[in-house]
Amino acid sequence: MMKYAAKIKNPLRRKLLAWYRHHQRSLPWRNTNDPYCIWISEIMLQQTRVDTVIPYYERFIKSFPDVRTLANAPVQDVLKIWENLGYYSRARNIHAASRIITDRCGGRIPDKSEEIKTLPGIGDYTAGAILSIAYGLAVPAVDGNVRRILSRVFAIRKSMDDPRGQKKLLDLAAALVPSRHAGDFNQALMDLGATIC
Ligand code: ADE
Repeated sequence: MMKYAAKIKNPLRRKLLAWYRHHQRSLPWRNTNDPYCIWISEIMLQQTRVDTVIPYYERFIKSFPDVRTLANAPVQDVLKIWENLGYYSRARNIHAASRIITDRCGGRIPDKSEEIKTLPGIGDYTAGAILSIAYGLAVPAVDGNVRRILSRVFAIRKSMDDPRGQKKLLDLAAALVPSRHAGDFNQALMDLGATIC
């Protein structure tokens, strides 16, 4: 890790977590750590703003409260709930993934990075978000917002578009994420990006 990052790692974690405790946005998927609910919220949040997602998330969880209910539903019902949220491949992927989870994973959302990333619709970022928020694993969740914050804090120039810079930011985020409260740490970066930075 960069020297500067090693030096400020602990105070940064502490301050960010303290800030998040007081200033986190109150969001319906933060009242739970049910991996199913976290998964659905993270897929919706991939391409859609938080404010827009909230009512869709609530309707979705009400209609399909768990992975088995979702897997047993016809895809048309899922698309109906998704109506006007856009990027409908997300809904089709969620539905397909729910069948894989019930058929091959014993109905449990996988808690291993390599396994969860084989599910349709789940890439590095979403895997990191689910594993840290739902399972408390110390893995990073780096999206455009988080990249922006880290490149500002650590003055990493050109890191936004350059693949080597992006790799640097991912390594940095992995080194910074604490072994306890990893989900809070990742969501604190998201909230900082969305509300302040
Ligand atoms: N964007 C993506 N995931 C999020 C989360 N868990 N909370 C807030 N914004 C997000």
